[in-house]
Amino acid sequence: MARKFFVGGNFKMNGSKESIKEIVELLNKVDVPESVGTEVVISPPALYLHWAKLHLTNTAIELAAQNAYPKVSGAYTGEVSAPQIKDVGAEWVILGHSERRHIIKESDDFIAEKTVHALESDLGVILCVGETLEERESGTTIAVCTRQLDPVIAATKDWSHIVIAYEPVWAIGTGLAATPADAQETHAAIRAYLTDKIGKDQADSVRILYGGSVNGKNAKTFNDCPDIDGYLVGGASLKPEFVDIITSRS
Ligand code: 13P
Repeated sequence: MARKFFVGGNFKMNGSKESIKEIVELLNKVDVPESVGTEVVISPPALYLHWAKLHLTNTAIELAAQNAYPKVSGAYTGEVSAPQIKDVGAEWVILGHSERRHIIKESDDFIAEKTVHALESDLGVILCVGETLEERESGTTIAVCTRQLDPVIAATKDWSHIVIAYEPVWAIGTGLAATPADAQETHAAIRAYLTDKIGKDQADSVRILYGGSVNGKNAKTFNDCPDIDGYLVGGASLKPEFVDIITSRS
């Protein structure tokens, strides 16, 4: 089954009104390749989602928040809700990013709770998983990824609005991307696990993105990997080379 190529740009806690407007204006000029059905989603900090929406004229590009609290509203100081994210024009949310798992100490269960809530609120979810260097070296890469997926598998039957991003922590922001062979091996193992847990049809249609030091030059090197359906890009999504990543499969 053909899966639509997906490119996400995670700006993380970077940018200003001026720099985000500049990126959006650059992306407005991009002819997002339809031949491979490319889907592009950018994720500025929550404060700038509305600002990005105001300037985004390229209808082929959508917006994602970087987090969403699993309540509609209430006394949750500092948090943002799925309805608020939708209200400012975003359709997606990134959940379970390793920076939230490791720095903010979000648990697998809490991320699953957020995922269910976001899906019920009609947001698409970019669900991140991935192992640390220590975990990789101890041979537990797949065990870590499946442990992170398990509570989501237990909590939701419908995976049609979930995109998985496999982001090995050791590759994030280091300039040391996984090799295409290593990434493909993990992606295939994740898909095999999903086949067992959520059925072949859903596992065959869920997109699994690779993230970790993807740039304008190395993006094409993953093109022949059958289980890599796109990228979640950090640093390079803030630069003009993001356009090369968007067009890397056309
Ligand atoms: P880099 O592309 O900067 O390595 O970041 C990847 C990432 O964490 C995207 O979510």
